[in-house]
Amino acid sequence: MTDLKERIAAQLTAVRDRSLGYTAAEDDLLVRQHSPLMSPLVWDLAHVGNYEELWVLRAAAGITPLRPEIDDIYDAFKTPRRDRPTLPFLRPAEARDYIGGVRGRVLDVLDAVDLADPDPLRRDGFVFGLVIQHEHQHDETMLATLQLAGRPGVVRDGDLPPGLSAGPEEVYVPAGEFLMGTDSLPWAYDNERPAHRVDLPAYWIDRLPVGNAAYAAFIEDGGYHDARWWTPEGWRWRQENGVFAPLFWTKDGGAWWRTRFGRPEPVPMDEPVQHVCWYEADAYARWAGKRLPTEAEWEKVCGWDAAAGRARPYPWGEQDPTPELANLGHRAARPAPLGAYPGGASPYGAEQMVGDVWEWTATWFDGYPGFRAFPYREYSEVFFGKEYRVLRGGSWAADPAAVRTTFRNWDYPIRRQIFTGFRCARTATPEER
Ligand SMILES: [Fe+2]
Repeated sequence: MTDLKERIAAQLTAVRDRSLGYTAAEDDLLVRQHSPLMSPLVWDLAHVGNYEELWVLRAAAGITPLRPEIDDIYDAFKTPRRDRPTLPFLRPAEARDYIGGVRGRVLDVLDAVDLADPDPLRRDGFVFGLVIQHEHQHDETMLATLQLAGRPGVVRDGDLPPGLSAGPEEVYVPAGEFLMGTDSLPWAYDNERPAHRVDLPAYWIDRLPVGNAAYAAFIEDGGYHDARWWTPEGWRWRQENGVFAPLFWTKDGGAWWRTRFGRPEPVPMDEPVQHVCWYEADAYARWAGKRLPTEAEWEKVCGWDAAAGRARPYPWGEQDPTPELANLGHRAARPAPLGAYPGGASPYGAEQMVGDVWEWTATWFDGYPGFRAFPYREYSEVFFGKEYRVLRGGSWAADPAAVRTTFRNWDYPIRRQIFTGFRCARTATPEER
């Protein structure tokens, strides 16, 4: 086997071990719907196997369908999440059998495939990258479900570095062009392509994500009760839902508590805030005298190396993420303290751009100039428009395989069960330029 094939095989195994670990639970937990926002866990599990069958076995290798009768059940478009509990989905033992059967054949295909084949699904193992990233994304979704279900003990609560870095509150990004998106990263999705020049005016952006202490100050200052800080839609959302703090937060006496995988604990004031929706992030930014960064501002400060005239795949450079550089890959079931990764700083000095929490941006999800859907319209294109806001950078529950400077995630502005925070930006004044 070539190096690339070995790497693919190792990544397939690693992500599957994680999926099976998160679903190593009693059947009742797996078949139940814990929130109308989420699928039953066992639906996610069989869906990743079905996706793997559709793309690797059928589309790339031309193998006859194993269980064509279940395709509709696992088609995310034909079955909205709220309807999934009533579907005749595979029960846990059957689901594990099915995905194991698919995986065995996928490894045979990997063994035989020519990764230098010009076919765009096979070239550089794109289709394997597609299913590996897809499964990682569903593992993160399963974690959000387990958090909503209040299930303790699922994620290892490992050690994270202390928050030690010192530095300015904001970093400065001078006006100028940068290269956004990519033409060269082999496993990048269609929505990250093509690379294109974007010219931005000078701006300031927070060196670190907004922390719980700062967010609590917004709450104490009456931020949730002052319409000035909210967009009309955001204010309506706040009123209708009676929201007064991030999801999973409660106030006990004078202190903020949160529930994390079923366990109450004091809110650690030195962590990035998470479980806030776009409306909350946007309101906080206005209260702080700032705004959310645009997606382009986020990407430029994350990866643009102006001296070299090129974009880095990670803020710190080419090197794959390690535990010293970023909080990715489920090492602990929480974001790391602010300032924990000075070594992971971007060329402009922004820290914790990848890992910890997904960061909301001001931008609606849309195609880049010259966008071409690949390998199917339903991956990205059908979500373009003014319905979803772009999220960047990956969370502690994202895997390095599915996080990079150019990676784009998107969700409804009301969503807060995902592992999401934000940082603020502002346009530089003429005197500051
Ligand atoms: Fe999916």
